[in-house]
Order: sequence, then structure tokens, then C-alpha cells
Amino acid sequence: MKRFVLLDTTAIPENGGALCLFEYGEDFVIKIQGGDGGQLMNTRMHGSEDALAQIPCSKVAGRANARVLIGGLGMGFTLAAALKHLGRSAEVVVAELVPGVVEWNRGPLGEKSGRPLLDPRTAIRLEDVAKVLQAEPQGFDAIMLDVDNGPEGLTQKANSWLYSSAGLAACARALRPKGILAVWSASADQKFSERLRKSGFKAEQVQVFAHGNRGTRHTIWIAEKLKA
Ligand SMILES: C[S@@+](CC[C@H](N)C(=O)[O-])C[C@H]1O[C@@H](n2cnc3c(N)ncnc32)[C@H](O)[C@@H]1O
Repeated sequence: MKRFVLLDTTAIPENGGALCLFEYGEDFVIKIQGGDGGQLMNTRMHGSEDALAQIPCSKVAGRANARVLIGGLGMGFTLAAALKHLGRSAEVVVAELVPGVVEWNRGPLGEKSGRPLLDPRTAIRLEDVAKVLQAEPQGFDAIMLDVDNGPEGLTQKANSWLYSSAGLAACARALRPKGILAVWSASADQKFSERLRKSGFKAEQVQVFAHGNRGTRHTIWIAEKLKA
């Protein structure tokens, strides 16, 4: 019978919390220590994490020197999908808050996503994605956010700012003209769709299967910046 085997625990900087990596049969699972027992991520289901990159990156792949930002790394599936759908001259900046998560991806976990950290187009930043996007006005053709389980801070409370009107305005400033913001969520949220629209985006809420073509669906907002 399969059981959860704890492989490692790593601190979330400046937060007092920690993330735990488990082995579960052939798969790996990341959970928040002391959380509700729910999973932040597992290697068995990553259809919606793939789609989070596939949809926006397919739209911007033809742009010269396309540059995109992913927050955070997690298990590397969104990063792997971005690299798959972008051209050779693209750059994929990945902001990851937790250094231990990057180390996990450099170990056996990285096999599951095809080791996208080794791709020369990948630039990893051990930083809060909020800081990275605020530091680079008009820096990105697309921004893909999957740092919580929806538009509300979970990994750290400060993440809630990202989904606020101020955070969305900062995302818009970090995007190049017609840039795309994509946000992952476990469930739909009409209020967040409305906030995206009020923040200057043309937003669509898309439902994507978590795994294969049936069962659980997750939500991805695909929001195009309207003003230059
Ligand atoms: C659900 S996982 C991402 C899953 C990823 N899409 C994948 O394909 O595996 C969330 C990740 O975001 C990181 N994270 C949380 N808050 C962050 C922040 N403010 N800035 C950067 N990374 C953050 C977490 O440490 C975790 O690695």
C-alpha cells in the first residue's frame, strides 16, 4: 500500500512556516507544514500547471526575444511547458521564494518535469515574485502566477497583495504592450475576474482539467493588458 514518506522540510523565508516534500509511491507531493493537510502540488496531476504556460506562451512565442516571468517554480511543470512553447531566443525568468524548492528540483524531483532548470533559457531568481515584477517595468511579454491555491495568499499572507487592485496594477506595469497575465486557481472566482477588468485587462476565466480529460477542473485567468 502507498503511504506518504517525508523526504525533507524547508523553511519559507521570513514567514516562520515551512514546506514539506513527500514521496508517495512513484510520485512526489509538496504540502504546507501545519496546513489543513491539503497539497500545494503533486507530480501526478499537472494538466492545469502545463496549461498556465501553454496558453499565454503560445500567444507571445512569435514576438522578438520573448521574455516571460513565472512565479513560483513548485515542481517545474509550468516552467517546462513555457520552454516547450517558446522559441530558442526566449528567456524564462522564474521567481521562487523558497530556496529549498529549487534544491528539490535539482534532485530526484527534477526528473518528473524533465529538468527544465538546466535549459539555458531559464533564469532562476530566489526572490518574491512581487519584488521581481515591480523591479522591471515593461519587462515581460507574459507573467504566469501560481504561488497559492487561488487569488488569495496561502504560502505567505503577503501574497494577497498580488491579487489586489494594487498588485494587478503592478503586473500591468511589468507587462509589455499586449502582454498577458495568467493566474492559476483551484476554483473560479467572479470577483477576481471583475477586479482584473477594472485593472485594465481583457480577462477570460478558463476551466482546465487537472489531469487527462475528465474529473477535477482548475481555473486559469488569461488576462491581456489593454493599454500600452
Ligand atoms: C503551487 S506551487 C507552483 C507549481 C508550479 N506551477 C508547477 O508547475 O509545479 C507554488 C510555488 O510558489 C512558491 N511561492 C509562493 N509564494 C511565492 C512568491 N511570493 N514569490 C515566488 N514564489 C512563491 C512556492 O514556494 C511554491 O514553490
